[in-house]
Amino acid sequence: MDLLNNTSSVSEFILLGLSSAQDIQMFFFAIFTLVYVAIIVGNLLIVISVISDNHLHSPMYFFLANLSFFDLCLSSTATPKVILDFLRERKTISWWGCMTQIFFMHFFGGGEMSLLIAMAIDRYVAICKPLHYKTIMSHKVLIVFLLLSWTVGFIHTTSHMVFTVGLPFCGPNTVDSIFCDLPLVIRLACTDTYILELLVIVNSGLLSLVCFVLLLISYTVMLVTIWQHSSSASSKALSTLSAHITVVTLFFGPAIFVYAFPFNSYSVDKFLSVFYSMITPLLNPIIYTLRNQEMKAAIKRLSRQHIDSCLIH
Ligand SMILES: *[C@@H]1O[C@H](CO)[C@@H](O)[C@H](O)[C@H]1NC(C)=O
Repeated sequence: MDLLNNTSSVSEFILLGLSSAQDIQMFFFAIFTLVYVAIIVGNLLIVISVISDNHLHSPMYFFLANLSFFDLCLSSTATPKVILDFLRERKTISWWGCMTQIFFMHFFGGGEMSLLIAMAIDRYVAICKPLHYKTIMSHKVLIVFLLLSWTVGFIHTTSHMVFTVGLPFCGPNTVDSIFCDLPLVIRLACTDTYILELLVIVNSGLLSLVCFVLLLISYTVMLVTIWQHSSSASSKALSTLSAHITVVTLFFGPAIFVYAFPFNSYSVDKFLSVFYSMITPLLNPIIYTLRNQEMKAAIKRLSRQHIDSCLIH
C-alpha cells in the first residue's frame, strides 16, 4: 500500500455530481431512491420467482434470473453512495473507494455483457436448432456459460485495474460525474495516459461495439428464421426476441458511446453513466416481466403462495 501511495499525493477524489443546486439535488435524491428501490424489488422478484417456480426451470429463465442478479450487483456498486452524496455538500471518495467502484463496475458490467451473449446463443439454438435444443443447452452447458460470464467479467476488469491501480495522482482530483468512471479517472493521472486510454477504448469500447454488432446480426438471423417458419409459436418468439434486442441495445448503446468515443464532451458521459448504472437495471425486469405471460403468471403464483402462507400463520 505504501508502495502505491508514495507516488501519488492525492488520497481522495471529489465527485461533482449531477448538479450543485440544493433543491435539484433533493429532487435527484428522491428520484434515485425510488428508482433504486424499484431496481431491488423488480430484480429480486425475478430471481425469487425463477428459483421457486418449477414452471420457470428452463435455461432461458435461469439466464434471466442471473441477469437480474448481475443488475442487482451492478446498480449496488455505486448507487447507494450516489444517493447519499446528493445530501452532502462535498462529495468525496477515497482512492480505495474509487478503485473499488471501477473494479466492480467493470466486473459486473463485463459479466453482464457476456451473459447477454450467452442468452443470445440460447435463443439462437432454440429458434434455429429446435430439435436439438434439449441436448445442446443441457444443465452442464448452462453452468459453463454462467462460469464463463463471471470469468470474462473478472479478466476484463483485472486487465483495466492492473494499469489503473499504479497510476500516480498528484494534480486536480475532481471527477465530473456521480461515481468514479474509468475514463474520467484516468485523465486525472499526472503521467502520460495515452496508451492506457487506448487500452480502455479497445478493451471496453471496441469490445462492446464488436459484441453489439455480433448480437444484432445473430438476432437478425433469428428474426428471419422466425418469419420463414411462421407458426402459432412465432408471435411468442417474436416478443421474446424484441425484449432481448431492446435490453441489448439499452445496455450496449451508452457503454459504446462512453467508452468507444472517449473524446466527446464529458457532461454527456455523466448522464450516460446514469443510464447504464440505473436505467438499464430498472428496465430489464420491466421489459421481461411485462412482455412475458409466463413470468407474470409466476409472479402471481408467488404472491398467492405468500398470501396463503400469511393466512395460515
Ligand atoms: C443462475 O442460474 C442457475 C442455473 O444453472 C441457477 O441454479 C441459479 O439459481 C441462477 N442464479 C440466480 C441468482 O438466479
